[in-house]
Amino acid sequence: MVNRSEIIIEAKDLAYQYTGEEEASSPALSGVNISVHRGEYIALIGPNGSGKTTLLKLFNALLVPTNGEVRVEGISTFDEENILSIRRHCGMIFQNPDNQLVATTVEEDIAFGLENLTLPSAEIQKRVGQVSSVLGLQDLLQQAPHMLSGGEKQRVAIAGVLAMQPGCILMDEPTAMLDPAGRNDVLQTVQHLNSEQGLAVVHVTHFPEEAVMADRVVVLEDGRLVAQGSPKEILGNTSLLHGLGLQSTAAVELASLLRQDGFDLPEGIITNRELVNSICSLEQTD
Ligand SMILES: Nc1ncnc2c1ncn2[C@@H]1O[C@H](COP(=O)(O)OP(=O)(O)OP(=O)(O)O)[C@@H](O)[C@H]1O
Ligand SMILES: [Mg+2]
Repeated sequence: MVNRSEIIIEAKDLAYQYTGEEEASSPALSGVNISVHRGEYIALIGPNGSGKTTLLKLFNALLVPTNGEVRVEGISTFDEENILSIRRHCGMIFQNPDNQLVATTVEEDIAFGLENLTLPSAEIQKRVGQVSSVLGLQDLLQQAPHMLSGGEKQRVAIAGVLAMQPGCILMDEPTAMLDPAGRNDVLQTVQHLNSEQGLAVVHVTHFPEEAVMADRVVVLEDGRLVAQGSPKEILGNTSLLHGLGLQSTAAVELASLLRQDGFDLPEGIITNRELVNSICSLEQTD
């Protein structure tokens, strides 16, 4: 059983300033306090430049704080000796799958991180077999990664991270370069790993529809954490989102227009299905 009260990542009073940024601008992040719990799915949203990627890089020890602290499974990211251990506990997936695949076959690519851990080859083979079966990659193991579709490549990148048996996966706009089928492919995979295996997920996205599936939506603006709550609380708050130059889901935006035109729709609609059900029940009662 996943103990959801357990904290995997803890950031306290976190700030980050890129070098060369000091005089001209405000820090990329400041005063951020956030914890990621085991098995939790967090959607991280915010306008361009609000600090989302910087926060993920701080979680993954790709950057270290200029103020405050990040602990991953209790280990401070300042602890240089344990950086590999932090990255093993907390793997990162980037927007462009091409930049993450390094080997000549899918199998070698999935095994790449494991080879660096110097695990026995029987253990490596076992783990590659396990993750490729979870991600449906068994038939692609001998293929060259560059021959795969974008969605398949992203699944190979996820497999490489999962093979390290992390407690948490950090995803920076992982579906931005994919078509709708590729997006679904990746999202369903990650949702499955989250619900079935208790993998914690921090998912940066500009697609409001992708935030619907989260346990918690966290909003950044100008490097500060300005709001957090359930998808219904955050995606239903159009004044917050519009004030940041963001949009909510198509269903929230449409429901809001319909309400302005006098339709008596209940609050809390965030998905297309909820909107359709509400409209149908209006017609039936009229
Ligand atoms: N390598 C860098 N050097 C200097 N400044 C940077 C660097 N990377 C990011 N920044 C600045 O830090 C701030 C936060 O950037 P970050 O990439 O974290 O934003 P983001 O929320 O991920 O944006 P996007 O939605 O465009 O991906 C921005 O003001 C950006 O210009
Ligand atoms: Mg970014």
